[in-house]
Amino acid sequence: MSDRPAILGGAPVRAGKSWPSWPQSDGTERRRLQAVLDSGAWSSAQGEEVERFVAEFIEFQGARHGIAVTNGTHALEAALTACEVGSGDEVIVPALTFVATATSVMSVGATPVLVDVDPASCCIDPAALGEAITDRTRAVIAVHLAGRACDMDALTSLCADRGIALIEDCAHSPGTRWRGRRTGTIGEAGGFSFQQSKLMTAGEGGMVTTELGATPTSAVSGTAPGITTSSTARTCG
Ligand SMILES: Cc1ncc(COP(=O)(O)O)c(C=O)c1O
Repeated sequence: MSDRPAILGGAPVRAGKSWPSWPQSDGTERRRLQAVLDSGAWSSAQGEEVERFVAEFIEFQGARHGIAVTNGTHALEAALTACEVGSGDEVIVPALTFVATATSVMSVGATPVLVDVDPASCCIDPAALGEAITDRTRAVIAVHLAGRACDMDALTSLCADRGIALIEDCAHSPGTRWRGRRTGTIGEAGGFSFQQSKLMTAGEGGMVTTELGATPTSAVSGTAPGITTSSTARTCG
């Protein structure tokens, strides 16, 4: 192997090789999907699969609560809403991320404020973040980019000192640990994505994890217009 990267004239390590296809599946997914189709219980309020997945996922992550949502963008919106971020507030986000980190802030009526990332980690630079805090800063969204954990010691201390909510964008970081704790369990809430390109994928999907004392009702009511029981149970008692 060359001691220089290909961009600086070294030999490309992947020359002539294609990337593995993603996502991958075997008969397991087909079998489980077929079982859901056959059960006739296709909604999360009636079937048991989503509930089971949430329970297994939060156990793996070491999170207190989890709420399945439609996608990672919605997970961030729900987390922001649960932290009561809204019109007139500023939310600090890293300049290097997927656009949804910032658009979720706009969706709840707040203003995203972009700050630089640390070139060594590609995660938000705590020093730049400190300089961007104003009286209107209500939350920070820390993105654990490409599976690398942000400096959660620095971010937690910056946010806690000023009463700012710390939300973790964990779209790339299921399984990532910071000092032994999995991402999504260190700040007030974490947002995960199960979109096609992600490490753990369902094609689409997302999850909010939170350490807040009770499951935030604002997050639940945003998932399936507040519906948590079957239509029969709601109408027939
Ligand atoms: C860092 C980051 N945040 C949020 C999202 C949004 O997730 P989704 O596409 O599931 O809405 C993505 C990816 O798509 C992402 O890469």
